[in-house]
Parts: sequence; structure tokens; C-alpha cells
Amino acid sequence: MKKTTHKIYFADSRDLSFIESESVDLVVTSPPYPMIEMWDELFKSFNGDIRKALDERRGATAFNLMHLELNKVWDHLYRILKEGGIACINIGDATRKLGDEFRLYSNHSRVLVYCSELGFSTLPLILWRKQTNAPNKFMGSGMLPPGAYVTLEHEYILILRKKGYRRFYTGEEKLNRQESSFFWEERNTWFSDIWDLKGTRQNLNHTEARERSGAFPFEIAYRLINMFSVKDDLVLDPFFGTGTTMYAAMASERNSTGVEIDSGFKSYIEKKTPVIIDELNRYTGERLQRHLDFIEDYKNTKGELKHTNIYYEFPVITSQEKKLKLNYIERIEKIDGHLPEYRITYLDRATLKKSMVRDVEKLPFTASDDQLGLPF
Ligand SMILES: C[S@@+](CC[C@H](N)C(=O)[O-])C[C@H]1O[C@@H](n2cnc3c(N)ncnc32)[C@H](O)[C@@H]1O
Repeated sequence: MKKTTHKIYFADSRDLSFIESESVDLVVTSPPYPMIEMWDELFKSFNGDIRKALDERRGATAFNLMHLELNKVWDHLYRILKEGGIACINIGDATRKLGDEFRLYSNHSRVLVYCSELGFSTLPLILWRKQTNAPNKFMGSGMLPPGAYVTLEHEYILILRKKGYRRFYTGEEKLNRQESSFFWEERNTWFSDIWDLKGTRQNLNHTEARERSGAFPFEIAYRLINMFSVKDDLVLDPFFGTGTTMYAAMASERNSTGVEIDSGFKSYIEKKTPVIIDELNRYTGERLQRHLDFIEDYKNTKGELKHTNIYYEFPVITSQEKKLKLNYIERIEKIDGHLPEYRITYLDRATLKKSMVRDVEKLPFTASDDQLGLPF
């Protein structure tokens, strides 16, 4: 039986010395964003000079000091990633008025410059478009030039690689890579540089509470994990929050480690994890169903597909998808110990062959995040 493990440390990721060098295949994360007010108190607790700078309305100094705190995490990420390993960092810029000055604080460019100085190769990035219909979204002088401001309606997903290309040597490694492939039609969407997630199921249990915690949508973590790692890899999220990266890793047959400074998330994770199986399996089922719908459409408009997936016996566009395989989760067990740690056991896909997709769609949702008690 195939298994993965998932471990959460309640600790400060500015010091990740408890994680071995060159042990992580992929990082998927979203830090607290400098100069966004919801994170002010946290940054002030990291360095008293940040409090002073904000109190004295010296925005540029506060911004700089906040990034010096985040840089400590990026230093560790470079150390603990394997060669060829990738870090995906979701970050938004901030606009803010301090004293008389309104300005943009460009978080994404600060992180990109620092990480490339560390040695990361910066890869083409993704703009996550977050259009809002809020009536007050336009700031500044209204209809009078030149003091009106462009609205920020996007965030960034920075993609950084540590030294060189990852290689797959043995037959087993090559097969695992093939079984980790994604569908051709997913490639076309996932590898486009603008992600507008409207119309996708953004989250498992997406609630206002999750938004207030700064959680990113499940779809983001799920795509990044499937784009930039293979099954059995280790995925790290050093800003764990509500555990979105861990749940996406569980659904994707990857191992994961999370680090979170706020131990208030612990009881939420402990309540949610044991009951999340059905939702994760439903997500996998929906992914297969989308492929079946795509095939139907393709056949009707363009004709027969050339290749057949050997496990599902359904058509696929390219030979690279012939061994693509998605296993459902059978069991989630908590491992005894002082950390929250979980072992996931997977059903081989064949077990669900007959009831494959539609039955999974009938699975119930788990309790809502509000019922599970996020720490705010
Ligand atoms: C933007 S949120 C990430 C949310 C997460 N992606 C999710 O989906 O729930 C940032 C998280 O990092 C945590 N955090 C901030 N500074 C930290 C640090 N130095 N070490 C560990 N966690 C930290 C915050 O408490 C918060 O939960």
C-alpha cells in the first residue's frame, strides 16, 4: 500500500535549522506580506525597530526591515532545497499611505531580487488575478487627474529554482515521473502566466474566515504541487496557516512538512485533518471527470485522440499521459508523538475503477471552517 507522511512544526521559520540541508523537493508558500496592515503586529513582534518605523510613519524603513525578517526564511529555503528543487512563493504588493506619502511597496520585486542574489534561478512567474467588484476599489482623486491610482487586483506566484535541472535516473524514478504527469489540457491552463481562478473550485470549504487568515485557494497549492514535484516528494510550507499546502500534498501523493508560528492553528488542523478524506477524494474525482468531459468535447469537435492511458483505458492527447495515475486516499491516521503528524494510505486507483468518478462526487463535505474554529 502506498503511503505518505505529513508533519507540522509549531515554530518560527526564520530559524529552520531543524530541517536538514538538501532534503526538500518543493516549497509552496505564502508569507505575511510586508506593509499590509493585517501583518503589522506580527512584524513588530519580530523587531522593535519595525514598530518604531511604523509609529514614526517611515514607510520605506519599515518595509526594508520587514523584508530583512523574511530574508532569514529565504536563506533557509535555499539551504534545505535539493539541487533542482523549486520554491513557489505567493506574494502580493502593498499600497499604503503613511504620513503624507501614498505609495506602492513592491514586495514581489524585493523577494525576487534577494532570492536571485542567493543563487536561485528565477523562472517565469504567474500573475494571480483577483478581480474585485468592491465599490471603493478605485483610490485617489476620483475622476480628476493626476492623483488617481491604479487598483492592485493581482498577486504574484514567484517560481525559483535552486541550481540546475532535476534528473531522473532509474527505471523506477522514470515510471514515478510518468505516473505524476498531468493532462495535456491541464498543462495548457496551469502553465499560462495569468491565473484567474473564477470558475474553478478555489478552496475546500472556502470561507471568509480562511480569507482573513491569508489562506490561498486549494487550487493554487494543488496546481503548483502537481506542476513542480513528483509523487513521494517532500513539499514544505514554512508559513503553514490553515494547512492548504499540506492538504493539496495529501491529495497529490506527496509528503509534506509545515511550519507555523501561531499555535492557535493546531486545534483547527487536528479537527479538520481526520475528516477531510472525502473532500480530497472528491477533488481527485472531479479532475478525472473534467478529463472525461474534455475528451467528449475533443472527439465531437476535432476527432479521435491518438493515445490511451494504460490504467484507465481512456484516451489522452499525448504519449506522456499514458501512465498518469491518481490514487484515492483510503485512510488518514495520526501518528503518536509531540507534533501533529499524519500518515496517509492510498487506495490503488484500480480499486475504484467501476465507481470511478460519479460516486466520488456524491461524497459529503466536511464541517465548515467556522465550525472547526480558526484562531481569530
Ligand atoms: C499568508 S498566511 C499563509 C496561509 C496559508 N498559505 C494557508 O493557506 O492557510 C502566513 C502564515 O504564516 C504564519 N507566519 C508568519 N510568520 C511566521 C514565521 N516566522 N514562522 C512561521 N510561521 C509564520 C502566519 O501566522 C500565517 O499563518
